[in-house]
Amino acid sequence: MCGIIGAASSRSVGKILVNGLKKMEYRGYDSAGLVLNNESEAIQLKTLGKVANLEDLMIEKKPRAQSGIAHTRWATHGEPSQKNAHPHTSNGTIYIVHNGIIENHDELRERLSNDGYKIESETDSELIAHLIHSNKENGKSTLEALIEATKALDGAYSIAVIDTEQNGKIFAAKQKSPLLVGRGIEENFVASDPLAIAGLSESFYLLEDGDFAVITQDEIKIFGSDGEGVSREETIIDTRVKEVSKDGYKHFMEKEIYEQPKAIANAIEGRTTEGDVLDNIFGLGSSESFNRVKRIQFVACGTSLHAAKTARKWFEELCETPCYIDFASEYRYRNPLVEDDTLFVCISQSGETADTMAALNYAKEEKYLGIVTICNVPTSTMARESDWKIFTNAGPEIGVASTKAFTTQLAALMLLACSISKSKDINGEKRAEAIEDLVNTPALVKEAFGLKKHIDDIVEKIADKKNALYLGRGVYFSIAQEGALKFKEITYIHAEAYPAGELKHGPLALVDETTPVVALAPEDELVEKLVSNLEEVKSRGGTLYVFGNATSKIKIEKGKFMNMPDCGYYNAPIVYTIPLQILAYEVACSIGTDLDQPRNLAKSVTVE
Ligand code: M6R
Repeated sequence: MCGIIGAASSRSVGKILVNGLKKMEYRGYDSAGLVLNNESEAIQLKTLGKVANLEDLMIEKKPRAQSGIAHTRWATHGEPSQKNAHPHTSNGTIYIVHNGIIENHDELRERLSNDGYKIESETDSELIAHLIHSNKENGKSTLEALIEATKALDGAYSIAVIDTEQNGKIFAAKQKSPLLVGRGIEENFVASDPLAIAGLSESFYLLEDGDFAVITQDEIKIFGSDGEGVSREETIIDTRVKEVSKDGYKHFMEKEIYEQPKAIANAIEGRTTEGDVLDNIFGLGSSESFNRVKRIQFVACGTSLHAAKTARKWFEELCETPCYIDFASEYRYRNPLVEDDTLFVCISQSGETADTMAALNYAKEEKYLGIVTICNVPTSTMARESDWKIFTNAGPEIGVASTKAFTTQLAALMLLACSISKSKDINGEKRAEAIEDLVNTPALVKEAFGLKKHIDDIVEKIADKKNALYLGRGVYFSIAQEGALKFKEITYIHAEAYPAGELKHGPLALVDETTPVVALAPEDELVEKLVSNLEEVKSRGGTLYVFGNATSKIKIEKGKFMNMPDCGYYNAPIVYTIPLQILAYEVACSIGTDLDQPRNLAKSVTVE
């Protein structure tokens, strides 16, 4: 959720830190702060709101120093405020920035208060600074004091520390929150995301849980939890391709919507052949093991969960395999019964979502056939912790509202369904149809962009409403759920999705002249039933905005019918997603919300 960065360099690091925070602002944006260590003096700056405010303060104060740490916050403990913004200090000598959640904070707060520490903020993070300070007071070195402090912490953390008595050094610790060390020229870094140091380093060490690091401008040392030096493999990440810009679009979300034809093509590229999927695209041994799959357990959150729900039908049809789907945040608390030969599948754009990661860790202890991760970030923890994986290759997604991550996840899920079906040697013809549809998807998505001109006509009619209903049947209910999530996330208008047949069981009470009802009506076996459900809306005065095929017999007196491209059976759900993304985006633009960074949200949810 929060983003942290630290730098030790032969040059002044203020600008490096602020630029790094800007690139990580998707992780949290309610306050930002940094501390620079200049000889034995600390210069600390904190601002509420966006990183741009911190940048303004930097321009005004012009602090200079060759080492420092910085943070962009997504509030968990304590409101967004100057006092709660990071870095936090103990005694003006130890400064820390933290991403994660310390679960035993109440107990630590009491203990540290009894020890005489005055706790200034409402955060769990400040306590870490006092713990380190207290350990140092007991005669430990800074690294020992940090190691000792983490022994008292229950929860998740990545921490970067400055000790004003150790000029030029950054200390770091990682447990269940992402942290990596980057090697530069006459400078080294720690950061939550390689993106933060794009252009400065391409050589990274991905820290493991329980690791500690000490960096100076010319040295990187990594230690295990016993304080002994350990070596971690050096990974090269081409951060230049991760450099992000809006490319002339107004928002990242807009750019990411219109990037989808290319992103989906990238997700498929090199993974299919004429009429089938290639072997082992999920990693060595995957094809051989997949023929044993009898059941599939999916876990994911938010948009990624909607991808699983949409894809369920493909697994049932192509692999003849029943699927269970859980909210990652709920999965392990229901003590799931795991049957033999169940494949566990995590779906996550970031590969770092704490709830999904916790479910994965739980699954590792159970008798699953294996763990598959579908994610967009090759360096992510989930990718590293899984038996098999596939990357969606969508390119960095910066907008908090997921767009291209969703459609590329659907492409990857189709590849997984085809891989399992191929391993079981069943449903070859359906598989060939699915692959053909998949290959045709980018062109159809491009065609669906043409709907924007029709959507423009309805934006103003929806933007002043308080509620909206989204309806679909079958897999289109899951697409409606994704559409409603997108809509509420960035417009702040309440939107709810229902399977259209469920309307009469309660939600119909919400329908009146002021309720826009968005419906998905592809020409499929359920369309006639859907038409009857839409009649129920019409007779209550609701306004219908329907995306469907011209052939479907839907007559709209109030609202608008928008004709979709002719899709295949397997790619239609992906294509029907597009107008819902555009609708959410255009309505949010007309309202004027901060739609790349909507209120209260963050891109990468690394706390439970
Ligand atoms: O990185 P993940 O796919 O694991 O993230 C899961 C959700 O937090 C994410 O999809 C969220 O729902 C999006 N903001 C929705 O647009």
